[in-house]
Amino acid sequence: MTRADASDLWWKNAIVYCLDVETFLDWNGDGIGDLNGVVERIDYLAGIGISCLWLMPFQPSPNRDDGYDIVDYYAVDHRLGTLGDFVVLLRTAKDRGMRVIIDLVVNHTSDKHPWFKSARRSPRSPHRDFYVWRDEPPKTNTKAKVVFPDAEDSIWSWDEQARQWYLHHFYRHQPDLNVSNPTVQEEIERIIGFWLELGVDGFRVDAVPFLVGESGNELDPHVLLRELRAFLSRRRGDAVLLGEVNLPPKELCRYFGEHPGDELQMLFDFPVMQATYLSLARGDARPLRAALEAAPEIPQECQWARFLRNHDELTLDQLSEREREEVFAAFGPDPDMQLFGRGLRRRLPAMLQGDQQRIRLAYSLLLSLPGTPVLFYGEEIGMGENLAIEGRMSVRTPMQWTAQRNGGFSSAPPSRVIRPLPEGPYGPLAVNVADQRGDPNSLLNWFERMIRRRRETAELGMGRLSLLDPGNNAVLAHRVDDGPIDIIVLHNLANEPSEITVGLGRGHDRYELTDLLNMGREPVTNHIDKRGRLRLTLDAYDYRWFRLQPSDQPTAP
Ligand code: NOJ
Ligand code: CA
Repeated sequence: MTRADASDLWWKNAIVYCLDVETFLDWNGDGIGDLNGVVERIDYLAGIGISCLWLMPFQPSPNRDDGYDIVDYYAVDHRLGTLGDFVVLLRTAKDRGMRVIIDLVVNHTSDKHPWFKSARRSPRSPHRDFYVWRDEPPKTNTKAKVVFPDAEDSIWSWDEQARQWYLHHFYRHQPDLNVSNPTVQEEIERIIGFWLELGVDGFRVDAVPFLVGESGNELDPHVLLRELRAFLSRRRGDAVLLGEVNLPPKELCRYFGEHPGDELQMLFDFPVMQATYLSLARGDARPLRAALEAAPEIPQECQWARFLRNHDELTLDQLSEREREEVFAAFGPDPDMQLFGRGLRRRLPAMLQGDQQRIRLAYSLLLSLPGTPVLFYGEEIGMGENLAIEGRMSVRTPMQWTAQRNGGFSSAPPSRVIRPLPEGPYGPLAVNVADQRGDPNSLLNWFERMIRRRRETAELGMGRLSLLDPGNNAVLAHRVDDGPIDIIVLHNLANEPSEITVGLGRGHDRYELTDLLNMGREPVTNHIDKRGRLRLTLDAYDYRWFRLQPSDQPTAP
């Protein structure tokens, strides 16, 4: 694919940044982040090379699941601003060349949504069939299907007013919509259409595997997704759906669609994310290698979304029990750091004990594995979590802008700030944007340089992955080839130097190898032997990116 195609399929080479409006920047001083605050920081985000914002839910909500419980799909939570402010945000982002995608939370509504209120009132309500009801209590124990086992022990709850049981995969205050009802499908399309019309560039589709299932109807999830995708693409050819589907590789890939790419264009790569943590814990590249090998090849019009952390618990549910225990022992040994028996409620830098070299190794992987990198706000400065906050909210603390009060997030008294910031080595005195700007070796400046390099290396978004054999289990060696150009990348997962030898696979006399992260190192060409193999010693937790290209082409600056 050419760079021209890369601009149609913009999301194949985007740098996505996820933020929650209420924790990013409080512009009116009430202690809660707001849309105007995000507008103020669009230039900061553009400056580090972010090309796509993903906004977590900002619609009106009783906020019993941080906004993933919506009561009005067509409005803005008044604490965060107005629909007018949202349009200003969109307009400002676009002006800086940045796209905006938003969460599409239609597996369920809040139980305070007018549809549910109407539905539970009477069996004759026009909204009764918007939800999934049954007369009988569940015959089998459905605890295993519950997503939040700390709070729920069944996916069915009795509703006193409706005098029936209703389905909810998440909290009982999040009743599942009956998406096999054509009227509900129309409503979902109306929601998609509304936000597209305002100018959003796509959606992060929440809880996809739960959308259909268990409801006693025969609707195939893929039929629904195909419909939604067709609708989206009719309305806006370059809009994108990014799916949250945490399933093993084969099932996962089905959500791209049967006919290449006619369902969700992008999927978060949960299996590779989880294997990355096992590899980091072991200092051994093999688990990651195996996960990359297990992923079926995907159509050109589809893409993996890469991530290391998101706003939820770091789920390790696809690892075996023993593997999960290994990761827990390495990165979250205290039971208070763990959640639901399957995940960790920490941010990456704290898990890696602040080891800058290892943190950078992890993010170098994120940026160089073929796919689209997705960052969670604060990752660019190495924010930590606040374990004093319960459950998953520990990683959703306010963005740390300065060393001042409330980390420069808000001028409100700390007691009124939406969530308490961490203290100590990850608090705003130690970790903030302002200080890191002044330090050329800071993580923030590293990210800025790395993102620039990633954006210039479009092959990583468009090319095909192959794994090389470096002759060393500690090292992941991968190649991404895109036409005449190969990108060759090495990561040493071990805390000690590793020697490697890799064949370059192209006639080295007619090709040139450029060091893309040249950090004052000896010219890489000194390390190519007579047989055209690259022989190097990588430092502990070292990472190297190279471009191999025909010698008659201009090299990358
Ligand atoms: C997945 C979201 O990431 C999570 O935060 C939310 O609680 C559930 N879906 C329910 O919407
Ligand atoms: Ca505010």
